[in-house]
Amino acid sequence: MEFPILNVGFARGAPAELAAAVSNAGGFGVVGGTVPTETGIGFIRRARELTARPFGINLIIAGQEDPETAEELAGMVAAYVGEGVEALVLFWGDPAPYVPVAHSAGAKVIVQVGSVEEAEDAAAAGVDAVILQGVEAGGHVKATESIWKHLPLAVDAVRPLPVFAVFFHGIGAATVAGVVLADLGICAVGTFVGAIATAGRARELLLPLLFLPLAIPIVIGGVGASVVDAPGRYLGFLALYDVLFAVLCWASFEYVVTE
Ligand SMILES: Cc1cc2nc3c(=O)[nH]c(=O)nc-3n(C[C@H](O)[C@H](O)[C@H](O)COP(=O)(O)O)c2cc1C
Repeated sequence: MEFPILNVGFARGAPAELAAAVSNAGGFGVVGGTVPTETGIGFIRRARELTARPFGINLIIAGQEDPETAEELAGMVAAYVGEGVEALVLFWGDPAPYVPVAHSAGAKVIVQVGSVEEAEDAAAAGVDAVILQGVEAGGHVKATESIWKHLPLAVDAVRPLPVFAVFFHGIGAATVAGVVLADLGICAVGTFVGAIATAGRARELLLPLLFLPLAIPIVIGGVGASVVDAPGRYLGFLALYDVLFAVLCWASFEYVVTE
């Protein structure tokens, strides 16, 4: 692996072609294994034809408390690691029952977790790496904390195990609101500064000199709203800023057009 990047082994969304492409590009490809076992084995064999590099197979291990499901999962794990995959990537359950069989077949075990406690339990169970999910994640969300909050804690808690982070989060309402308010702010500031520059003499100089410092708070507000847990203060600030410049534009309009 040249780059510490894994693709999600989405059940049927991560066939052999995707995993092989990721491995060939220097990442670590993962085929989707939450499919009938024969299909999963087919993915592994096809991926082996498409890449000479290591790759893994993903399996959702939910429902272990039911003996029938537990038996089925154990059978799938044994079949997959028996195919010689380099890693078993698990999610939504306790990895402990699968670690010995994977290790004895020469496969690493990587498990996706939703909390620092779960990361610690996984480390104690003998996994080789964890993938940490944040509450911002899309799809099946196990996390209860923002990735920004518990990523450093998880890294410390399971050191020296590698911790991968799930980063490509869905776009939330706060991000959309931040972008809309930031765009409105840039329009309002741009209009206001443009009007002043038109009315003034050194207009080529005035525009960039005024626009940049007045736009920086908007950029900070927009970025802040999209990354923090409680974006209310950033959104409130952006709204206030937008209103202020909208009023200034309105108040200066007559002066500018009659000059
Ligand atoms: C449609 C969908 C299907 C998923 N299927 C799987 C899966 O089969 N195995 C798995 O480990 N994770 C699966 N996940 C969860 C991902 O591993 C990951 O936690 C999630 O996509 C959050 O990251 P994101 O917000 O960056 O997409 C799935 C997520 C989505 C949205």
